[in-house]
Amino acid sequence: MMNDPDRRKMQITRMKMEHIPQIAAIEAETFSEPWSEKGFADTLTMDHVLFYVAVTSGQVTGYCGIYLAADEGELTNIAVATGFRRRNIACQLLDTALPQAFAKGAGRIYLEVRRSNAPAISLYEKYGFSVAGIRKGFYQFPQEDALVMMKESADNDTKDKEKLL
Ligand code: COA
Repeated sequence: MMNDPDRRKMQITRMKMEHIPQIAAIEAETFSEPWSEKGFADTLTMDHVLFYVAVTSGQVTGYCGIYLAADEGELTNIAVATGFRRRNIACQLLDTALPQAFAKGAGRIYLEVRRSNAPAISLYEKYGFSVAGIRKGFYQFPQEDALVMMKESADNDTKDKEKLL
């Protein structure tokens, strides 16, 4: 994989204002109820929100966000641009964001995911999340149940802490 030129050029960094138009474009092509540019921009001033972007050759190719509240985190966003999926970008975003959230005091991290979203569920399981509950009819457009998934900080791989940004 080290010979993959896109991978060599990919970097994970904290989200900045300059990234937001490209993030919102990925969000709009990915989700039926996308966050607006303002929604992302508002988080820039919130120190309890962690947002990271993957940048490949100057282009935003993915992003993820975690909200921290008391001793819990919520993974609110993760997406990778269509043409850049299956290149390990989501893994690298989580390799950065999850250890940072745990280091900032989250004892566990929750997320919601559409029940039919096999790629995302597989990603989360790979990172040690397991199903903690179901929210019936949680999503609209189309209506669908959400799986609530959770990962405890004790499950986190401490080697990832070397990568804190
Ligand atoms: N089918 C099954 N598993 C998949 C998958 C697919 N099409 N795509 C990713 N995965 C899982 C696998 O477990 C994979 O590990 P593996 O390569 O060892 O099999 C793991 O995710 C990591 O893959 P990676 O290449 O890092 O994922 P990605 O960069 O393609 O991003 C998503 C994965 C889910 C973020 C991406 O598909 C996406 O943006 N989907 C639309 C947005 C979305 O659904 N977000 C989640 C909302 S809750």
